[in-house]
Amino acid sequence: MSLDRPDSWRYPSLVAHRCGGTLAPENTLAGLTLAVRHHVGMVEFDAKLSADNVPFLLHDDDVDRTSNGRGAAVTMSYSEIAALDAGSWFAAEFAQERMPTLESVARRCIELGLCANVEIKPCAGRDEVTGELVARAVARLWKDAPVPPLLSSFSEEALAAAQTSAPALPRGLLFGKLPHDWLARVKRLDCVSVHFEHTPIGREQVESIRSEGLRTLAYTVNDASRARTLRAWGVDAICTDRIDTVT
Ligand code: G3P
Ligand code: MG
Repeated sequence: MSLDRPDSWRYPSLVAHRCGGTLAPENTLAGLTLAVRHHVGMVEFDAKLSADNVPFLLHDDDVDRTSNGRGAAVTMSYSEIAALDAGSWFAAEFAQERMPTLESVARRCIELGLCANVEIKPCAGRDEVTGELVARAVARLWKDAPVPPLLSSFSEEALAAAQTSAPALPRGLLFGKLPHDWLARVKRLDCVSVHFEHTPIGREQVESIRSEGLRTLAYTVNDASRARTLRAWGVDAICTDRIDTVT
């Protein structure tokens, strides 16, 4: 598995969650600017497909919480999604923000020199096609970038489709609590990293992941002293909302 190839992990140790953490509306271009302003070298964001198969950024299945629209993203074309205000819910100064296409995010990340963790976040029932089309788009959009994006997903079906359509892109499998069969699942997808929710994790689990030659990413760590503890255990990357206080 990943031990047999050169280490593809060339990522910074701090990752801004949903582009700019709590400093900007999530999954927007404004967040990328804020990440750079806070000297963060890498951003995580959530990518899914519109009804007409345009990869774009949104965490939830519907647009209600993070825009002025209503409804399930899976039923909306990208032109309908692009018409929505994705910033005012957060603060009036962000009223111009939209749910950006993956293409516009790629362009901005490359311009700003930001590394990317593209979390494939399929709408219900669209795992395979989302994995395939997002991975294919990432491979095309970042083909000349010095560091390829790290793909990740909670959906093993999506990650398997990503592996088939863009096998050279590094992959990480996302878990909440680490399951007992995590290693088999990670190996099946030939992942380079294991991503886990940080609160239930302990030193021994981090060490057993690392002993398999795998990298680790902990989310969402918003306390600076907890981030230091995780780093002392050998965690490679800390994904945080608090890019202003976690360093
Ligand atoms: O990729 C880490 C983290 O973003 C996973 O959880 O729900 O914030 O996408 P969520
Ligand atoms: Mg995410």
